[in-house]
Amino acid sequence: MATHPAPVAGVLRTAAAALARAGIESARAEARLICAHVLGVDRSRLMSADGIDDAAVAEVERITAARAEEKVPLQYLLGRAPSGRLDLAVGPGVFIPRPETELLVQWVLDRLPEPGGAGRPVIVDLCAGSGAIALEIAHARPDADVHAVELHDAALEWLHRNAEERAAAGDTPIEIHHGDATDPGLLPGLRGRVTAVVSNPPYIPVTDDLPADVLGHEPATALFGGTDGLVVVVPLVDLAASLVAPGGFLAVEHDDTTGADVAAVVKRQGRFGTVEQHTDLAGRPRFVTATTRDDVDTGARGGDDDRDDDEVDTTVQKGNTR
Ligand SMILES: C[S@@+](CC[C@H](N)C(=O)[O-])C[C@H]1O[C@@H](n2cnc3c(N)ncnc32)[C@H](O)[C@@H]1O
Repeated sequence: MATHPAPVAGVLRTAAAALARAGIESARAEARLICAHVLGVDRSRLMSADGIDDAAVAEVERITAARAEEKVPLQYLLGRAPSGRLDLAVGPGVFIPRPETELLVQWVLDRLPEPGGAGRPVIVDLCAGSGAIALEIAHARPDADVHAVELHDAALEWLHRNAEERAAAGDTPIEIHHGDATDPGLLPGLRGRVTAVVSNPPYIPVTDDLPADVLGHEPATALFGGTDGLVVVVPLVDLAASLVAPGGFLAVEHDDTTGADVAAVVKRQGRFGTVEQHTDLAGRPRFVTATTRDDVDTGARGGDDDRDDDEVDTTVQKGNTR
């Protein structure tokens, strides 16, 4: 016998209570997102929905239980994550885009040459994951040639999926490379031609002190950068140095404990002149930027081995960079 649809408010209350009992901070907001996802309506229209049938209630309960009991990230359960001006497909195997990366992207966008100038800007996103950086730049700058490099197969699948979605939505297609950002010979055809190298690499110094939804579900290959957090960053900076064109620049995100180390790595590499550290919206050190030195040819690598570390000249910028 067919049953009447249950009122949305009651289902929402039950889901929110289960999430709150499990210690989920924004329980009510997450419950709204889950119910809206299952009903296929916008969050703002949730309470005007007619009701929620048995199958949909069961689906809300399934998602709520996975979130509450197994601490599966909400974005994996909903299959989408907001990322800057985009909404990307995500799921197990790919890093969930974080808001702090939007600052890095904005810094790059603010410094790209104006559209309509000589030649198309060339951008390389090393460690691309879902495509959060590469696709955001391609969206904002249809005149740019954007390349995205990803090593791991599972992440690469999400990258292809998002790149196809964005191209279908009208953005300039990006070029995807299955490759290792620590390989000094990567992208030989782009050597010395790149306007901006951008990266949010795996950078957390190895630890088990992370929230359960991160540690238990996001890929370790996306999170950890060895014991010092620099295992990927150091060779990646060398690769970036060989790719950037004269006048080009580098922007790389890092752990909030390694800002000075990353700035020193970039400075020591020798290809870059102005090296700056930037903080995120919470005031924590979050990314380092650098522009090429006028006096060093493209391809110069590690040329400052005799430079004293004390000479590292970095500018710490307080507050966000917008
Ligand atoms: C922190 S996630 C960043 C993803 C995306 N750029 C973002 O900001 O959301 C790091 C990504 O680097 C990839 N990765 C790890 N080691 C790599 C390597 N050596 N070369 C290329 N990609 C790598 C991981 O699979 C993961 O997708």
